[in-house]
Amino acid sequence: MGPHPPARARCCSFEDYQQTTEWLLSRTSLRPRVAVICGSGLGLLAEPLQNRQSFRYQDIPNFPLSTVQGHEGRLVFGTVKEQPCVFMQGRFHLYEGYSLCKVTFPVRIFKLMGVHTLVVTNASGGICPDFKVGDMMIIKDHVNLPGFAGQHPLSGPNDERFGVRFPCMSDAYSAALRRLALEISGELGCTTFTREGVYCMVSGPNFETVAEARMLQVLGSDSVGMSTVPEVTVAKHCGIRVFGLSLITNKVCMDYSREEKLNHEEVLNISEMRVETVRKLVHELVARCHAPEQGINTH
Ligand code: HPA
Repeated sequence: MGPHPPARARCCSFEDYQQTTEWLLSRTSLRPRVAVICGSGLGLLAEPLQNRQSFRYQDIPNFPLSTVQGHEGRLVFGTVKEQPCVFMQGRFHLYEGYSLCKVTFPVRIFKLMGVHTLVVTNASGGICPDFKVGDMMIIKDHVNLPGFAGQHPLSGPNDERFGVRFPCMSDAYSAALRRLALEISGELGCTTFTREGVYCMVSGPNFETVAEARMLQVLGSDSVGMSTVPEVTVAKHCGIRVFGLSLITNKVCMDYSREEKLNHEEVLNISEMRVETVRKLVHELVARCHAPEQGINTH
C-alpha cells in the first residue's frame, strides 16, 4: 500500500452494472430509449403499456429491493405509442439505509441499455405559499441538501466510462422537455394546476420541523421530498437528459399553530387521486420525446 489511504471504494463496480444490463437485455427484446421512475403512490404510471414485460427487483442480479409502502418493486418494459421504454415501479431512498450508489444503480443500467431520456416523478410537500394540494410541479431545478453534507452519489473514485469528475449541473432539467410538458398540460386542460419550481431533497425519513420548513423556503425551494436528486445527478453525469415532475401531496407546515399532522397515508391518497392525470401527461411526453441531437446543446 502507498503512503496514502485508499479512496473509499464504491459499492457497485462497472462489472456489476454490466452483469445486470446483460441479464435484462438477454430476457427482453425491447430496447428502451426512455426510462420513467414512478414516485410514491404513482406505480400506475406504468399501466397500460403495450408489449409489457416485467421483472421483480428481487429476481434481478445486484438490484436493491423496495421496502416502502406504495413502491411495488418491479421493472416494467413496454412501449407507449411506439416509444420503447422502461418503468421503475418503486424507487430506492437514502432513508431505507441504501447507499446513494445503490439508490442510483438503475440509472446506470438505463444508460448501458441505451436510454437517452429519464423521466423522474415524486410526491412532495409544497413550500411555495401559492401551491395547492394536487398541483403538478414541473421541476426546473433542485437543491441537493444531502449533497452539501457529503451524501453524494458521485463521491468516491470517478468512473470516466460514465462521465467526468466535475459534471455541470446548471442545466439539469431539460428546458425543451419542460416546454413540451407545459404544452401537453395545456392540451390536457391541466394549466390551472401545473406549476414550475425548485425541488429540494432532504434525507428523511421524518417530515420537516417548522423551523426546517422555513429554512428551506429561504433557500429558494418550492417543494420538498426525500428522493429524485441522486437519480437526476447520476443521469446528468452520464449524459442522460432529464425531465422531472413533482406532485404536491401536502402543504408543508410553516406555522406552529397548525393542527393537522402529516402522514404517509395522506401522501399516498393524493398521489392515487391524481395518478391518472399524471399518467396522461407522462405518457404523452414519453411518446413525443425524441433523442436529443448529439453534440449540440439543445437540452
Ligand atoms: N416533506 C418531505 N417529503 C415529502 C413531503 C413533505 O412534506 N410530502 C411528500 N414527501
